[in-house]
Amino acid sequence: MTTTSNRIAAGVERGAPFSFTVDGQPVEAYPGETLAGALLAAGRRLARRTAWRDEPRGAFCFMGVCHDCRMVVDGVPNVRTCLTVARAGMVVEMQLGFGPPPPLGDSAPEARR
Ligand code: FES
Repeated sequence: MTTTSNRIAAGVERGAPFSFTVDGQPVEAYPGETLAGALLAAGRRLARRTAWRDEPRGAFCFMGVCHDCRMVVDGVPNVRTCLTVARAGMVVEMQLGFGPPPPLGDSAPEARR
């Protein structure tokens, strides 16, 4: 599991850590953290690669505006990780281009954007 060395240590009380996976690797998160925040704390900056030039992108604004943090979360592409609270057992993958098509009948709001 990834260390917590990039998190503020002093004066912060956190709940019990849990993990989710990113490209098959476990990442540690704490209750209330977003996926993007947990990834940044784990030292991972790459979220996706662009469709046209295959350029790397990662979280930039951390407030849902730039869309550079989009990843595939539990099979749903284009999920803005800066707006998505991490949960135990989530499966997160780097998004290539526009990502895979969303599952048929998926009602996740992020899948329709
Ligand atoms: S970091 Fe900009 S939308 Fe997520």
